[in-house]
Amino acid sequence: MRLDIVTIFPEYLEPLNVSLVGKARARGLLDVRVHDLRQWTHDRHNTVDDTPYGGGPGMVMKPEPWGEALDAIVASGGPGEGSDTEDGSRGGSEHGPVVVVPTPSGSPFTQTTAVELAAEPWLVFTPARYEGIDRRVIEEYGERLRVRELSIGDYVLAGGEAPVLVMVEAVARLLPGVLGNAESHRDDSFAPGAMADLLEGPVYTKPPVWRGRGIPEVLLSGHHGRIARWRRDQALHRTARYRPDLIERCDPAALDAQDRVL
Ligand code: ADE
Repeated sequence: MRLDIVTIFPEYLEPLNVSLVGKARARGLLDVRVHDLRQWTHDRHNTVDDTPYGGGPGMVMKPEPWGEALDAIVASGGPGEGSDTEDGSRGGSEHGPVVVVPTPSGSPFTQTTAVELAAEPWLVFTPARYEGIDRRVIEEYGERLRVRELSIGDYVLAGGEAPVLVMVEAVARLLPGVLGNAESHRDDSFAPGAMADLLEGPVYTKPPVWRGRGIPEVLLSGHHGRIARWRRDQALHRTARYRPDLIERCDPAALDAQDRVL
């Protein structure tokens, strides 16, 4: 998968060199290219913002640098073009990349969104600062490419870079070969399937007793059916406690016969 990120703070994306994403890059599973938006400015001060039409506080990001940046990136070709990625996947690049615009005014970025984006060969992220990007940029590329305006939650951050880190990590861990164990995201909270809309319950490891606290007996039983039942009960309890809204909208068809009404 190829990821292009256009930002005025390239150094903000340095965490993409470490841990899971860093390893995926080193192994050629992810081709991440971070671009400085200011390279597409032409004035002495490398200006990327201006005052908003209609007045009001704050500044708005100018359309011209974004237009030049996105044109250059799209013209640079699909995944694999000029890169050292090993998967060589090119399927879908004929549609161009999906452009992801992080904004608190977007639709919610959820595990379902992460699964959808993980199926794409090429994503371009446009993290904005200030009050956001001139609307015409989103309109212009919305006519040519698939554009998704996404929010990571109902709070306002100073810019879209932290949301990009969040989204890239959520997507990268779903890519084949990135996690050691292909099954390790099957039981994630929100994972599509049996755990859809349920929060994952508690986990334990050795030692069996720590500061006088043991672990639930069932986990030592070796009885897979009982363990699976216990884990599901824990998930249901936890969801009812912390996210009653998820229980409310739970699809009854997703419950199994032994799920008790809580
Ligand atoms: N930019 C600022 N706040 C944001 C949020 N909550 N989600 C996505 N992008 C943002």
